[in-house]
Amino acid sequence: HGRPGRRVPGTDFEPVAPNTADAVVVPEGYEQRVVIRWGDPVLPGAPAFDFFNQTAAAQARQFGYNNDFVGLIPQDPQGWRNLLVVNHEYTSETDMFPAGTYDENNPTEEQVRIAWAAHGLTVVQAQRDPRGGLKVVPSRYSRRITMDTPFELRGPAAGSDYLKTSADPGGRTVLGTQNNCAGGVTPWGTVLSGEENFNQYFANGGTVTDPAAAERLSRYGIRGGATSRKWERFDKRWDIAQEPNEVNRFGWIVEIDPNDPHSTPVKHTALGRFKHEGANIQIARDGRVVVYMGDDERFDYIYKFVSKGKAKRGTSAYARRHNSRLLDDGTLYVARFTGDSPASEIDGSGALPSDGEFDGTGRWIPLASGDKSFVDGFTAEEVYVFTRLAADKVSPTKMDRPEDVEPNPHNGRVYAALTNNSDRGAAGKGAADEANPRNGNRNGHVLEWEEHRGDHTATTFSWRLLLVCGDPAAADTYFGGFPKDQVSPISCPDNVAFDGHGNLWISTDGNALGSNDGLFSVPVAGPDRGQVKQFLTVPVGAEACGPVVTDDLVLVAVQHPGEGAGAADPDSHWPDGGTANPRPSIVSVWKKGRWGAGRIGYR
Ligand code: FEO
Ligand code: CA
Ligand code: CA
Ligand code: CA
Repeated sequence: HGRPGRRVPGTDFEPVAPNTADAVVVPEGYEQRVVIRWGDPVLPGAPAFDFFNQTAAAQARQFGYNNDFVGLIPQDPQGWRNLLVVNHEYTSETDMFPAGTYDENNPTEEQVRIAWAAHGLTVVQAQRDPRGGLKVVPSRYSRRITMDTPFELRGPAAGSDYLKTSADPGGRTVLGTQNNCAGGVTPWGTVLSGEENFNQYFANGGTVTDPAAAERLSRYGIRGGATSRKWERFDKRWDIAQEPNEVNRFGWIVEIDPNDPHSTPVKHTALGRFKHEGANIQIARDGRVVVYMGDDERFDYIYKFVSKGKAKRGTSAYARRHNSRLLDDGTLYVARFTGDSPASEIDGSGALPSDGEFDGTGRWIPLASGDKSFVDGFTAEEVYVFTRLAADKVSPTKMDRPEDVEPNPHNGRVYAALTNNSDRGAAGKGAADEANPRNGNRNGHVLEWEEHRGDHTATTFSWRLLLVCGDPAAADTYFGGFPKDQVSPISCPDNVAFDGHGNLWISTDGNALGSNDGLFSVPVAGPDRGQVKQFLTVPVGAEACGPVVTDDLVLVAVQHPGEGAGAADPDSHWPDGGTANPRPSIVSVWKKGRWGAGRIGYR
């Protein structure tokens, strides 16, 4: 371990030190450029961004707020032209509107309509600049998806009585998508995106008295009165007292085909309904499509879906249509992790058990397959629409907030970011177990598993913790066995990506160690397994999202810079500088070199 001067392909850079700068800080020898900012024009006719005079009509044609997932889809072998697909997770109105113009108790209809237009997704074409980095160019692919965009509900729950509303008596068409957090590019060139904290948009769940309906709402965190954004005042569909089923039409994985700007995006009911962080696909050896997913809530679960049919190769319109349809019929599973060390050795302190690892075996428990339910008391339709309640019946492992779950194409293993869970071990809450071994887990951990015989359709697997995050000087951290005096501190892993060498890259949300969030690389094989190195930090108050790592380009989404400080006295002025209010933006980073094409992680 830790041979001095050893160079790991793709991770050979001088780590960035923890800091609280109001800047994106990259390693020596690297350069950066903002690709697109909140408010930048996307569709033809979009006006230039004007923080002091924003309108809903302008926002609907401009880049949305709080960029999260970033999908980069090359359109040629060298990646000179690419489709860039970005999620806009949520809005922070007190930071978005000029000081004194936004009353939290009485937003104007125009302000609410701006928020509707600032949610959703953006598709643009981005070209390599010969001097380095990516720049957005006008193209026929430019698209904004907002709260007004029609989505088709597909799969086994489409048309269900639970999904019917007064505006959509057939239960098959939903307007909009919200709280789109992470996602994944599919092998057929579309994008999957998770509707995560959809609950916060629905008012008056607390007025529901029917016990079954109330229990369902409670399990999804919807038992309050008015919402903080007050959308229910301007469209009754956000008011559960008036439109009880609209809430069931959110909390899905959606699929967007960025190659076809006129396509109708899809909500895939076969992938279940929960606080979807994201979804990532692996084609199994036999051609079936496997989707890995996390439900980001304290003590919630990890899921996978295995299609019945087999994928077509390529990204043609035919393959895109065929393979998307595979997500309509298959088996939905939830994960149970069993440790191999005695429970007495898992004391919640994070101390390693006597076998030297947090590890064990696991099982995928089927919930439903097509129209057949495997859960007593639930129809298949109910499994898909009320997935959390169905999963509760089969004793899966309650995890420390499952964020990204993603297969590594290099070694076939699957990696899950468990971001944190300060309630672990609290009175009346779940105790530590070997897969979630720390009580009051503030810094999170990273889990790795291998499906039985490397077959992604398998129903059993073996697992271990790769990282137990935090301050390397603290006794409760673990870095894959790598010497802890040679790693960067890391806290609250959220999004994961892999480079062309199979190294894991992790972006963080909510650094509990006091410095800014950032992006880290970590080899998962060989003597340097576990050597976490910080590649960049993001500005004050921001979360690092969306990472994309290619051989010569890194993309990071800087989400909510300066969040919560309010527009009057922002504590971030990134990226425009001076006295400007902060703007969520996508940043490209590259290593200096000829034609802007130095290789990432090589010296
Ligand atoms: Fe939107 Fe789970 O992060
Ligand atoms: Ca063990
Ligand atoms: Ca996330
Ligand atoms: Ca997050």
